[in-house]
Amino acid sequence: MGSEPVKLTSDWMAVLRAREHAQPDAYLNDPCAAVFVTPASEAGVDTVRADALPSAVVPLRGRLGDLTLLSSGVRQAVCLGSGTDARAYRLPVEPSLVYYEVDLPGQLDGKAELLAAAGFGARCEVRVVEADLRLDWGPALVEAGFSVTEPACWIADGLFYYLTPAQTHAVLDSVSALAAPGSWLTFDVPHELFLQDPVMQPFLREMALRGVPFVGALRDPATLLARHGWSASAALHREIAAGACRWLPPLPQRLRTPAMDLWLVRARHP
Ligand SMILES: C[S@@+](CC[C@H](N)C(=O)[O-])C[C@H]1O[C@@H](n2cnc3c(N)ncnc32)[C@H](O)[C@@H]1O
Repeated sequence: MGSEPVKLTSDWMAVLRAREHAQPDAYLNDPCAAVFVTPASEAGVDTVRADALPSAVVPLRGRLGDLTLLSSGVRQAVCLGSGTDARAYRLPVEPSLVYYEVDLPGQLDGKAELLAAAGFGARCEVRVVEADLRLDWGPALVEAGFSVTEPACWIADGLFYYLTPAQTHAVLDSVSALAAPGSWLTFDVPHELFLQDPVMQPFLREMALRGVPFVGALRDPATLLARHGWSASAALHREIAAGACRWLPPLPQRLRTPAMDLWLVRARHP
């Protein structure tokens, strides 16, 4: 798959999802994740400040996207910053679903082949859209066949860490302009407090040194989305860990600590 520095983050996510899948009480079932795991990506996860890597949120946002997509009843889904996401290959989606995987040019090269070699075929039509989400990407999605008059499920797992607040606002502006009534949206994004947390500073410095700085943060995603007409729920990982979120299944103990100021967001376009 692709060669951008941010690519390594997607490989790390596969390691974390594969490890969660291997748990007897897995919060996220992702049998495809192991396909993307290499000794280098395992070593990366283990060496990059393992205690500060915000890994607990990865199965959490994965489960949120799974539950939302499967209950949405929509016929199109868009995964922004798709990377090693394999929902189209592992979830019991309707064959009539069209699943758009959007990522930087080259990042998804070889992905379908790797999955196929491991025996995972797509359960619906998958369309890859190569686009830089910092630019004007909507036309490429529509060009690929996305319908702006039909509801869709939008999922952005682990993307907004790498976009500035202004770029994140622009992506959410575009999603809101493209989303028909009845659409769903899930994503995770740091709260500003996360970037300021002294405990996170060594990890954040390391990510910057690797060429993939965490630059994204939103103070109040639910209010921001409400301005765009979405009905949104947002909860911080630390609130979910404390059992204060009713729209996600309770977390096993291993995903509750360390409690972090990372938002999980679920929204519906009425
Ligand atoms: C942390 S990974 C998450 C991948 C996947 N969603 C997951 O949770 O496993 C971030 C993904 O966002 C993609 N990405 C980062 N910046 C992007 C941009 N400007 N445009 C499109 N994709 C981008 C990366 O290539 C990478 O696949």
